Amino acid sequence: MAGKLIIGNWKMNTRAQSAQSLVDALLEQPACDQPWVGVAAPAVYLAALGARLQGRSIRLAAQDVSAFASDGAYTGEISAAMLQDIGCAYVLVGHSERRQYFAENNPQLLAKMNNALAAGIVPVLCVGETLEQREQGDYLEVIYQQLAVLAEINAGEYLIAYEPVWAIGTGKVATLEQIAEIHSAIKTWCLQNAKPSASIRVLYGGSVKAENAESILMTDNVDGALVGGASLDAGSFRMICQAAGKLI
Ligand code: PGA
Repeated sequence: MAGKLIIGNWKMNTRAQSAQSLVDALLEQPACDQPWVGVAAPAVYLAALGARLQGRSIRLAAQDVSAFASDGAYTGEISAAMLQDIGCAYVLVGHSERRQYFAENNPQLLAKMNNALAAGIVPVLCVGETLEQREQGDYLEVIYQQLAVLAEINAGEYLIAYEPVWAIGTGKVATLEQIAEIHSAIKTWCLQNAKPSASIRVLYGGSVKAENAESILMTDNVDGALVGGASLDAGSFRMICQAAGKLI
């Protein structure tokens, strides 16, 4: 799909009632009820929201998926097949918070990507450097190491989200020059190393807000946005979706 993609990442927020209200508020907005808009809700609410989104355009997304491929004795895990079963179109893989708090590594992330692809879900591989890595100057190397997972994938459609860790939830947005540099480097790396590299799409994430969405989305090689904090407010998220809608 051409145009910009917007995925809201609710992280560990909302309750059954507020999740429902948020989705209802988005469904009332023509700018949001679009096939290029997705919401990554907490796993426990996905089934209810999936039912609510039946027949509508907003896509359901999960925030994580198990690295185990099939059903079995894996207490607490949620498989790609389960996510597919309740209508998930996307799943985030390797968000920096998962890398930081759960020590997720490339072999696990490759398994997650492959499981999602096998279930027909589009995985969104999240990459990005910490402030320390940026200051040390080796941030491109860090990102290439994270992208290495893609060199092992043989087929299927996936997305990449570039999210500098220092810009997540901090209010510090990367400059448009920084975003353009990394997005272009990611696409070049993918063309050289990733197998199904026909249409590499890279979203930007990190303090995307109503006020900066349009300029970020207009930046070279930015194919959309992964929105954390601002996706919890229907009004802010609507304005971000509107900015994306203008650029079709
Ligand atoms: P943020 O989060 O928009 O709150 O910075 C982005 C993300 O972590 O996906």
